[in-house]
Amino acid sequence: MINVTKTFLPPLEEYQQYVQGIWERNQLTNNGPLVQELEKQLREYLGVKHCLFVSNGTIAIQLALKALNITKEVITTPFSYCATSHAIIWENCVPVFADILESDYCVDPAKVEAAITENTEAILVTHVYGNPCDVDALQAIADKYQLKLIYDAAHAFGVKVDGKSLLSFGDISTCSFHSTKVFHSIEGGAVITDNDEYAWLLDRYRSFGHKGDDYFTIGINGKNSEFHAAMGLCNLPRVPQIIEARKAIVDLYEAGLDWSKISQPIVTKGVVERNYAYFPILLPSEAILLKVRAALEAENIFPRRYFYPSLSSLSFVTSTSNCPISDDYALRALALPLYYDLAHADVVRICQIVNTSLA
Ligand SMILES: Cc1ncc(COP(=O)(O)O)c(C=O)c1O
Repeated sequence: MINVTKTFLPPLEEYQQYVQGIWERNQLTNNGPLVQELEKQLREYLGVKHCLFVSNGTIAIQLALKALNITKEVITTPFSYCATSHAIIWENCVPVFADILESDYCVDPAKVEAAITENTEAILVTHVYGNPCDVDALQAIADKYQLKLIYDAAHAFGVKVDGKSLLSFGDISTCSFHSTKVFHSIEGGAVITDNDEYAWLLDRYRSFGHKGDDYFTIGINGKNSEFHAAMGLCNLPRVPQIIEARKAIVDLYEAGLDWSKISQPIVTKGVVERNYAYFPILLPSEAILLKVRAALEAENIFPRRYFYPSLSSLSFVTSTSNCPISDDYALRALALPLYYDLAHADVVRICQIVNTSLA
C-alpha cells in the first residue's frame, strides 16, 4: 500500500539512547534539557531569534493570536488545512477569507487589502504546500494598515527565500512538527518570532501563564515533552537528506507526468530553496480528479484531496467572502504520494496510472 505520506523514522537505537537519558534524569516534561537543546538547535538551524517548541501546530496558531492580542477580524486564506481557520474561530475571532492567486495558490495580497475593515486586526495566511506567500506585499499591507501579520508556516520547515528561513517572516510564524511533516517530533510545533516581548508572552502562555512562582496571566498548556524533543533531535540533522530524497521524487514526477492536461503551483517569489513538502496536481475537473483517484486506489495507491474543502465553504464559518479560485481549486487539487523512501519505480508507475486515466 502506498499512502500520500509516510513518517520518517530515525534509527531506533538513537532514539533509545535519548530515552535512556530521560530515564536516568527522571524528567519527562516541563522544559527539560532535551526540549531546551531542541529549541537551541532549531534556532541555529533556522537562523531565528526565538523558537518555542509547543505541543502541535494548531496550538501554535492559537498562542500567536493570543500573544498579539487579536480579538476581532482576521483576514485569512480559504485554501489551507482547517486548523488555520479553526484556530481563529476557537480564539473567538472572526475569519474573513481573501481568495488565492491562480499561480501559487497562496493568498492574493490585493484581495487581502480589499477585505480590510475597521475591525481587522491581523492577517493570518498559509505558505501553501511550503511555497512562500508574497511576503513583501503582505508586509507592506500590514505596515500600511497597522495590522499584525502571522504566517501559518506548517508546511514551510527548511524553506528559504533569498537565503533566509521562510519561518522568520511576519510578526510570528507557526510551524507543525506532526509526524507527516518534512521535519517531525511525532506531535509538535513551534512559534517563531524575532520580537522579545512576543517571545516572553508566548513562553508564559504555553505554560499555564506562569513561570515558576511568577504568575503572570491566564495561559494554556501548550508545552511539549522530552520524548517528543528526542524525536526532533534525532530527525533534525537528517532534514537536508530527507529534502534531497524528496526532490529526486519530485523531479521524477515532473518528468513522468503528462502536463498537457494538468498543472501545479508555480513558485514565484524570490530565490526559493524548497522543501518538497507535497506534490499537488491540479486536474481539469472534479470528475477527472475522482477518476484519477479511483484508478490509483484500485492499485492500492492513496493520494489525498488537499486542501479540500475550501474553508470558506464550511457550514460553521459565517464569513460571506467570495473565493471562486479557492472553491474551484479545492475541487481539483490532488496531492500525490511523496515521502523520503518512496520507490522510484512506484513514482513511474503512479505517473503511468495518472497519464492513462487522463488520456
Ligand atoms: C496548513 C496547516 N496548518 C496547521 C496544521 C496543524 O498542525 P498540527 O497537526 O501540528 O496541529 C496543519 C497540519 O497538517 C496544516 O497543514
